[in-house]
Amino acid sequence: MALINTKEMFKKAYEGGYSIGAFNISNLEQLQGVLEACKEKKSAVIIQASKSAINYAGINTLVALVKAASDEIGVDCALHLDHGPNFEMAKKCIDAGFTSVMIDGSHLDYEENVAITKQVVEYAHKFNVSVEAELGVLAGTEDDVTSDVHKYTDPEQAVDFVNRTGVDSLAIAIGTSHGAFKFKGEAKLRFDILEEIQSKLPGFPIVLHGASAVDQKAVATCNEFGGDIAGAKGVPVEMLRKASSMAVCKINMDTDLRLCMTAALRKFLAENPTVFDPRKYIGAGRDAIQAVVESKIEDVLGSANSL
Ligand code: G3H
Ligand code: 13P
Ligand code: ZN
Repeated sequence: MALINTKEMFKKAYEGGYSIGAFNISNLEQLQGVLEACKEKKSAVIIQASKSAINYAGINTLVALVKAASDEIGVDCALHLDHGPNFEMAKKCIDAGFTSVMIDGSHLDYEENVAITKQVVEYAHKFNVSVEAELGVLAGTEDDVTSDVHKYTDPEQAVDFVNRTGVDSLAIAIGTSHGAFKFKGEAKLRFDILEEIQSKLPGFPIVLHGASAVDQKAVATCNEFGGDIAGAKGVPVEMLRKASSMAVCKINMDTDLRLCMTAALRKFLAENPTVFDPRKYIGAGRDAIQAVVESKIEDVLGSANSL
């Protein structure tokens, strides 16, 4: 088994009308839950880690862990830097063995975003590493950066950006946002923007961030067993499936995995007050992640049998 870049998986996903799930991890059990699900469903997958996840786990530990688990479980996967904040971080991940990196210059001035993305692409491509960039701003918080409003991606600018940077995939803003509180009223995505980008950049892989569905049962379980999460709302599954059948080839999900793991741990600990073996309660979290990822592969991504 090997860590692979995203080139082939995106090509197959685009042609097949499905998406690859990109799941954020920062520990062993999250990783194992995701990979076991992908093995079960024979699905291609991207394991991703943010700067804060890398700080938490340690970059070399993370790379070794992902390589070893991919080997042991028997699933090839890409290891991707999520929301890389600068060239130095992207370089550090490439040098450590990541096979894909995101350089997120979406909060910068347009020309600065072009320049930093180009710089990362030039370095990454020497090592056969894929690069994702972002154009447009999602409402909510991405690592340390917070925005109150969406700044939808401009399709004309997307074409210029892709041509000038040579980037391999592009994250766009069409109304999704990070975290568990995505919509105050009705959920709405700008499919017209996605369609226009697809028609101007045929065959080019688009990425959707902030794509957790925020399962109300997981939220209810958290709250039933001592949590306090009010007003959580995610992206409806039908919308994600529709995006997957279009130019979207990568769908990022973190919040759903956090919620299901937290729900499982809270429930397990509340129902088993005498247990203090971490393998038991964290293991319950791992099983929950596996179940959620299997359902994402079937209901959201359509990526079963893509390995
Ligand atoms: O887009 C943000 C991801 O959910 C990563 O979040 O920076 O808390 O690891 P994090
Ligand atoms: P969610 O918060 O919707 O899971 O999005 C995660 C994400 O986009 C990571 O980059
Ligand atoms: Zn994101």
